[in-house]
Amino acid sequence: MVGEQATLVHLAGEACSVVLDLSSGVPAISYWGSRLPEAAVDPASWISATTPAISQASLDQTGVISLVPERASGHLGRPGLAGHRPDGSGWSPRFSLAEQAVGAQRDLQTRSVDQIAGLELRCVVRLDPADVLIVAVTVTNIGNDPYQLDSLAASIALPQHADELLTFAGRWCGEFDAQRAPWAVGLTSIENRTGRTSHDRVPALFAGSTAFTHGRGDVWGLHLAWSGNASLHAEVLIDGTRQVQLGELLLPGEIVLAPGDSYTTPEIYGAYSSNGLDAASGRFHRHLRSRATHPGPDRPRPVLLNTWEAVYFNHDLDTLKALADRAAEVGAERYVLDDGWFHGRRDDTAGLGDWWVDSDVWSNGLEPLIEHVTGLGLEFGIWVEPEMVNPDSDVYRAHPDWVLTADDYDPVLGRNQLVLNLANPEVFEYLLGHLDALLASHDVGYVKWDMNRNLTHASNGSRAGVHSQTLAVYALIDALRARHPDVEIESCSSGGGRADFEILKRTDRVWTSDSNDALDRQSIQRGFSYLFPPELMGAHIGPPTSHTTRRRHSLAFRAATAFFGHLGIEWNLLKTSDDERVALGEFIALYKQHRGLLHTGDVRRFDHPDASLSVHGVVGADQLEAIVAVTQVASRQATKPGPVRIAGLLPEQRYAVQVLPMPQQGRWGSNHRIPPWMEDGLVVTGAFLAQVGLAVPVLDPESTVMLHLFERSGNARAAFEFAAIQPGASVLIPLEHVPERLHCRPPLPCTCS
Ligand code: GLA
Repeated sequence: MVGEQATLVHLAGEACSVVLDLSSGVPAISYWGSRLPEAAVDPASWISATTPAISQASLDQTGVISLVPERASGHLGRPGLAGHRPDGSGWSPRFSLAEQAVGAQRDLQTRSVDQIAGLELRCVVRLDPADVLIVAVTVTNIGNDPYQLDSLAASIALPQHADELLTFAGRWCGEFDAQRAPWAVGLTSIENRTGRTSHDRVPALFAGSTAFTHGRGDVWGLHLAWSGNASLHAEVLIDGTRQVQLGELLLPGEIVLAPGDSYTTPEIYGAYSSNGLDAASGRFHRHLRSRATHPGPDRPRPVLLNTWEAVYFNHDLDTLKALADRAAEVGAERYVLDDGWFHGRRDDTAGLGDWWVDSDVWSNGLEPLIEHVTGLGLEFGIWVEPEMVNPDSDVYRAHPDWVLTADDYDPVLGRNQLVLNLANPEVFEYLLGHLDALLASHDVGYVKWDMNRNLTHASNGSRAGVHSQTLAVYALIDALRARHPDVEIESCSSGGGRADFEILKRTDRVWTSDSNDALDRQSIQRGFSYLFPPELMGAHIGPPTSHTTRRRHSLAFRAATAFFGHLGIEWNLLKTSDDERVALGEFIALYKQHRGLLHTGDVRRFDHPDASLSVHGVVGADQLEAIVAVTQVASRQATKPGPVRIAGLLPEQRYAVQVLPMPQQGRWGSNHRIPPWMEDGLVVTGAFLAQVGLAVPVLDPESTVMLHLFERSGNARAAFEFAAIQPGASVLIPLEHVPERLHCRPPLPCTCS
């Protein structure tokens, strides 16, 4: 490692600056905010101007919140590193800077050493092209005896005007439940011990200035890219300084570093904006969209049909073929055979682990179904849950010692299943062999990789084994991908229990939630979208009555909700009417027409004074087009909805505003009269939309009006050749947005000449 020895390092991004102070021996984030001119980062004046006063009755030196804050340097908050040697020494290290290098990629690498504790610390800090901060820390045992590592987390110092927190709770069928709270003195801790990313302890938070909104305020987002146990600590110290620590939650004795061994934290991702939550979240999206494997415009997200809620375990070739026919008829492009196809899997009590086709149900194998599906022009996908095993399975009967559990204790079952110890090379090879054979011998383009239980007493031998299991899961997916690079993989874990940036290095979609209830989905998807862009968010249209809540929703509402993700259908189309399928087909055509915009544009949420109205949408990268959904998520507070203000468009640009037709829309709500523009059409400027706002109809609870805004001049969309739609409220729609067979179709009123 080479490089000039500077005390301050300025990583200057497009709109962000990160200034790191190296004077304490380990880099500390001295500033992370809007971009500073280079002249502002003058070491002498910076240090003099930022070194705080010391009050009486304090330590004589100020503790520094470095990336790994040290008790031994006077830091009075949570230390970044905890551990010790067999004799108890080395528990409170204090590092000195040994080397530093500033790279061309807006990155800093440092090496710090504590010879007394026998530890070395390497920090890597990078500001990527999306202005996303990426941090990782490595500790190496340079001593002569083992070092037991209890925790290593990276600490991100935030300024004192970050005084509110947004964190995520959740549950099965209720993921990404965003919670706001003041960030008060003390410690807010999120500890996840589930052995997966979790439903209820998402390793992410946003901190922001007082009352930050989607469009206003300083906001810092932080995320730990890790699919196993994790801890986040948001701490306000008694001196008012604050830090967020993110790291793996290590179980007792899980990491013991032999001399020469190292441990590296998962990567920490950070996104800052001075313009509120949307812009910070947008940086995370831009980061994910820059992945080499990210599906770009050349790989539009195929509309899929998933068989789970259609047939569950009742696999029958004729039924599944007929379902494929219906899927093709409505325009699906991918067909995913869910749980129930493999040996002995007639319900959820047996079969997991026996990854070969069940010959009782599939007497001629899967080929007849796959040939039928691919013959219809659809890609074939298949469900697996490789990490799991049912005690009632051939593999468990042959290898009861393969499970990740403690020998001398009765294991806790979850959904009748145990967890295989993937860190055992025999298990790893067994799974890789069977998964490889499945993909090699069938025409499969897509794998839904599930993981359906929390880890409890997960022991690898006598030691806690969640860390080794998490790494082995990554290694297994990587090995399979290396053999089948064209197969896409969906990350599912009882719905959205495994959604994080590390799993997304090796997967292409996340199953957001097992709830297809469109009302639940409004908040689940909003929470999910703070971290992940729409094209990675599985969003399915379920049946009229939700299987998880028994709540009924119109097709229009279900479709408008699923519109903003990677669209799928999870509905037994064999039990639908002709009208329903025609409407579904029209909607899918509409979705295909707009998915280019939806999957590349900027996600925006528009704060509305009436919390019963949820407004969000996608604004095209060129700001010339947007689709916005206005949804009544509960009974309204006022007699009429206040204007909806839509920011993010070009102030001077004129935009046509139209209602996007959802299938079987029916009535909006109890309108004596809808806003005139809905009948007459409207062209307004971006400034009008952002500052004055648009009147919207009175909406029934659990219904949506979808708005399409597009530049009024200079492209084909401005050719106002209309077909009219929308029973009872003839709304003008450009002809190109209406399936051809509907043009002038009675009984819709027609304005074509
Ligand atoms: C989990 C998934 C579902 C479905 C079932 C199958 O619950 O989240 O989507 O695949 O498993 O058993």
